Amino acid sequence: MNLLNIIKNNLFIQNFVSTFVSFLPPYLEFTVSKYLAIKKAMYVTAHDETYGCYLEFGVFTGSSFNFAMKVNKKIEKIFGKSNCEFIGFDSFEGFGQIKKEDENPRFQDHIFSVDEKKVLKNIEKCAKGQKMRIVKGFYQDTLKDKTTLDLKIDKARVVMIDCDLKESARLALEFIKPSIQEGTIILFDDYVYFKGDKNKGESGAFNDFRNKYPEILFRRIFDYGYAGKAFIAYKIN
Ligand SMILES: C[S@@+](CC[C@H](N)C(=O)[O-])C[C@H]1O[C@@H](n2cnc3c(N)ncnc32)[C@H](O)[C@@H]1O
Repeated sequence: MNLLNIIKNNLFIQNFVSTFVSFLPPYLEFTVSKYLAIKKAMYVTAHDETYGCYLEFGVFTGSSFNFAMKVNKKIEKIFGKSNCEFIGFDSFEGFGQIKKEDENPRFQDHIFSVDEKKVLKNIEKCAKGQKMRIVKGFYQDTLKDKTTLDLKIDKARVVMIDCDLKESARLALEFIKPSIQEGTIILFDDYVYFKGDKNKGESGAFNDFRNKYPEILFRRIFDYGYAGKAFIAYKIN
């Protein structure tokens, strides 16, 4: 008897599996997917020797940032030392001024306000000797009219854009522009929100960036989680 026949004759199996999956909290599912996407990006870049740093825009509790540091240590066991610096950017108080086009009931300051001291202490603990820095503040102050060159940041290996809003993602992309190299992977964690509107949110910022800098060619390499997409810069003319 094949599996389909077994299920056809025992409908309780289908009931059990669907009940189990419906109980899985979405937060758990998309966080695990985010971890796997970071792992994949760190592996692919290490495999192809795309050296440089890991940049994260939207640190919040440090969940994905700490995971990136952790997984890099494991990947170094396969491909050797990477000398990767981990740099995170967040206000730890939310978004600051939110533009009209960025308004969304789920993206509000109070939701993303965290105990910064506790988060930073935990990040330091998780770094385990790896090079790391956190740039605290609203991007409107810390990134505006600046680039990675001003902060002496190396080429980018993996960039995690997890800052939800178009304006935040726009500032992040302008900031990293000189650090993008052939092989840099950019992960957008909230690509499909704002009802899929191509002009809004992280996808809106990335579309504008690609139109403004057509010399950097990107290819979509995978989708992940509930709303994430990954791109690789495969050629810079
Ligand atoms: C979805 S959370 C990041 C989640 C995190 N990567 C994780 O996996 O737990 C978004 C974060 O982006 C930060 N953020 C968004 N826009 C910002 C801005 N303009 N300035 C500073 N921080 C910003 C918020 O403070 C918030 O902590």
